[in-house]
Amino acid sequence: MNYQPPLVVGHAKSTKIVIVGAGSVGVTTAYALLLSGLAAEIVLIDIDKNRALGEVMDLSHAAHYAQAKIRVGEYVDCAGAAAVIITAGVNQKPGQTRLDLVQTNHALFENIVPQIVENAPDTILIVATNPVDVLTYSAWKISGFPVQRVIGSGTSMDTTRFRHELGRHFGVSPRSVHAVIVGEHGDSQLPVWSLATISGMRLQDYCGQAGIDYAHDDMEECARKTREAAYEIIQRKGKTNYGVASVLVSIIEPIITNGDAIMTVSRVGTYAGVENVSLSMPCKLNRDGAHQDVPLLLNASEQEALRKSALSIKEAIMSVEK
Ligand code: LAC
Repeated sequence: MNYQPPLVVGHAKSTKIVIVGAGSVGVTTAYALLLSGLAAEIVLIDIDKNRALGEVMDLSHAAHYAQAKIRVGEYVDCAGAAAVIITAGVNQKPGQTRLDLVQTNHALFENIVPQIVENAPDTILIVATNPVDVLTYSAWKISGFPVQRVIGSGTSMDTTRFRHELGRHFGVSPRSVHAVIVGEHGDSQLPVWSLATISGMRLQDYCGQAGIDYAHDDMEECARKTREAAYEIIQRKGKTNYGVASVLVSIIEPIITNGDAIMTVSRVGTYAGVENVSLSMPCKLNRDGAHQDVPLLLNASEQEALRKSALSIKEAIMSVEK
């Protein structure tokens, strides 16, 4: 069968993206999306209309240098959106874990998600609000959408940070490090060391070829910095926004362009034998959503760690299930 390249959807000319939540993640995402040229129209929805209008007024002056239009909207404006990004909710304060936010933000989703679904029954939901894995499950349950159309940013943020730390350690661009974090976007996340490579070589072999020691402690330190990055940033500046905003735009890109990019995003499924839970594994992203066609080949200890992560999220999901 001749290879048929994926149809590239005409994006910048007609694509509408809605962002629910005009907090720092929502407006930073709007700004990054505006400059990306991926969307023709960006709609910002927030319960605080005055704040949303202030942000849009400011952003519209950036739109001067971009191709997109940006405006304040209501849920009726979700109609026809290629994707709706949900960033609304309370965020972590110093000393809080993401799971501490679950009750408050789940209650918010019970209000937000039905209003999106009523106006955009065919859209793709992208969840950024924490705890993102539990809320991806909540959005799936409340919306009734097929699993592939409810995507959490999940460990795509952690994978980005992990590649940044490993790249810095080995002196190569993060884009040249092929390593992933899977599981919970949170404390039980796991680095998949068995599949981490640079120049196609496993890290131990890369070190051998480069004539440097493979220091296990250094690798563990890279994983620790990845896992704890948000805590440290929140301790210093009170929030995170730039990293996650860029990650959200990188998730939107293959959806708008039908790009079939593989990213570690959160999606409902069965993981290490734990059913009906949402966590991050590599998924193929395109205009139909997130697809888990090829399960990741994990070794026994990674499978066990994934099971622990899945059970931790399952427990949080059960804490909000009616
Ligand atoms: C972070 C937030 C998005 O990790 O959970 O920056």
